[in-house]
Amino acid sequence: MSTALMSTSTPTLTSSLLYLDGVSVSFDGFKAIRGLSLVIAPGEMRAIIGPNGAGKTTMMDIITGKTRPDAGTVMFGGSVDLTRLDEAAIANLGIGRKFQKPTVFDFHTIEDNILLALKSKRTVRRTLFWKTANADQKRIDHILGVIKLGDARARLAGSLSHGQKQWLEIGMLLAQDPKLLLVDEPAAGMTDGETAETAVLLKEIARDHSVIVVEHDMGFIRELGVKVTVLHEGSVLAEGPLDQVSANERVVEVYLGR
Ligand SMILES: Nc1ncnc2c1ncn2[C@@H]1O[C@H](COP(=O)(O)OP(=O)(O)O)[C@@H](O)[C@H]1O
Ligand SMILES: [Mg+2]
Repeated sequence: MSTALMSTSTPTLTSSLLYLDGVSVSFDGFKAIRGLSLVIAPGEMRAIIGPNGAGKTTMMDIITGKTRPDAGTVMFGGSVDLTRLDEAAIANLGIGRKFQKPTVFDFHTIEDNILLALKSKRTVRRTLFWKTANADQKRIDHILGVIKLGDARARLAGSLSHGQKQWLEIGMLLAQDPKLLLVDEPAAGMTDGETAETAVLLKEIARDHSVIVVEHDMGFIRELGVKVTVLHEGSVLAEGPLDQVSANERVVEVYLGR
């Protein structure tokens, strides 16, 4: 089978950043996730696709501690059992999540939104290092550059387009310097131009962060150029390069061909 070809490069539990095995969860008797196994290597960006209801968002809920699995293993960094931790503890480990709906502070400037995110990290994680305002400013400038809002820094966040708000929220997530970013349907509601920009932005972020991104836009997925996992009915239907999974008959049947 096609997935067997890639199994030689699949990292083991100890060499993985994120390791899910045999994970299941039911809601009122309905099995939303069934025997899900997924391994993300340190530094990897992975794209997740699959039909509505496949369990993509529920998988993110399990990783972030919002939903507790009924069965299975969920390990971070090779040795931390995420099923024993609550949402705040998991966030503090360095797992950041971007929800579909942006939640920026509309009545603050773009720059202040990033600054607030930096500060909140400091309070939550009680960092031991005293950083100068200058270091903060450098970090803010860097993040504004990555999210392409440097020229708009003094504008109120509320004046941004939907797509720009998504970027700002990604920037706020970056301010927390997560080891792993979970991004759920970032291109939803974006223009084609914004979608293309978002792919560029995520590729830049993936240079020094691990990323799991769920998206339906196939042009966007192609642009990312990373390994793709296809979820269907709560488990992995196929995994591999986009061209390979796109040629898989079952994937065409349940998702691409609809
Ligand atoms: N909290 C919940 N209570 C009941 N059913 C849920 C809950 N969360 C998700 N589901 C169900 O689990 C399935 C997977 O949903 P979801 O993870 O949102 O899919 P996706 O993100 O792939 O579209 C769906 O059938 C959905 O209705
Ligand atoms: Mg979803």
